[in-house]
Amino acid sequence: MPIGTDIEQAAALLRQGEAVAIPTETVYGLAANAFNEVAVLKIFQAKQRPSFDPLIVHVHSRMQVEQLAASLPAGAEALMARFWPGPLTIILPKTDMVPDLVTSGLDTVAVRMPVHPMALKLLAALEFPLAAPSANPFGYVSPTTAQHVADQLGSKIPYILDGGPCAVGVESTIIGWGAETERWTLYREGGTAKEPIESVIGPLRIADKSPLPVSPGMLESHYAPGKPVIIGNITSLMKAHAGKRCGVVSFTNNFGAAHNEVLSAAGDINEAARHLFAALRRLDASDAALILAEVFPGGGLGAAINDRLLRASAKR
Ligand code: TXA
Ligand code: MG
Repeated sequence: MPIGTDIEQAAALLRQGEAVAIPTETVYGLAANAFNEVAVLKIFQAKQRPSFDPLIVHVHSRMQVEQLAASLPAGAEALMARFWPGPLTIILPKTDMVPDLVTSGLDTVAVRMPVHPMALKLLAALEFPLAAPSANPFGYVSPTTAQHVADQLGSKIPYILDGGPCAVGVESTIIGWGAETERWTLYREGGTAKEPIESVIGPLRIADKSPLPVSPGMLESHYAPGKPVIIGNITSLMKAHAGKRCGVVSFTNNFGAAHNEVLSAAGDINEAARHLFAALRRLDASDAALILAEVFPGGGLGAAINDRLLRASAKR
């Protein structure tokens, strides 16, 4: 099993143009040299990711941002100062150094500076930034432990850098400046709550459901376990599915189903986000016939939790 904590080994493989799984505070990423198209292609192959879905480029310094971004829209400086390093991805106009494969041919690039110490150490050891989507087969639940990555991609990649369980547990929030709308747009709810972002740059516009590849992270079915997911009032759903073995994802209450995943008995929404994806994976691996999930309170990271559950429940 290619799991370890050797940053130098991960760096050496990345320099050779390999794709390596790395920890971040949000979810594990499958990383490659963002300036090497052949290396980046390995990410798409391992994940079976369609090439219309662009990647996020990870940096450790503002100097690297200058290599990637042709210009910074108003407000970008303030956002980076306030939220980096951390789970906020900012979409910026790209330079010619960024290969088309990374951005799916868009003229913008998604950039983020992770706060996970191992990710930062690895990035600082390298001469290039790292393109990395979540390290899961396309469309499936994101990995929040090294073992999650090994379970699905272990045979396809040479190394998984183990940085422990992810502290945030849902992917980064993605925002971008729309030149046409002259507003900052929210493309994906995530690990940085909307409220503090709005306190820096004012009200966010919510991205329209637009055709690909303008907002590809907005694919309707995503983050999805193999089993059907149904969202609603758990008590009524359990009555409606009384004959079946149910797995339940809830915030604080144990509903006494066949399998119960209470994400935070203490009612802490950050803890709930941290536990969400591992809980979905456990229920998917259990003998439950279907997964029932309740709607979480919408403030803070609750918005990201509800977004992931909604996509996990979408028709495939
Ligand atoms: O927390 C995260 O964001 C994790 C870790 C590994 O950093 N990464 C991640 O990547 O979740 P993933 O698999 O969601 O893929 C990146 C998403 C795409 O699906 C797309 O929605 C969005 O980022 N994206 C990337 N470049 C974009 C662009 N130029 N315009 C709009 N959206 C873009
Ligand atoms: Mg993903």
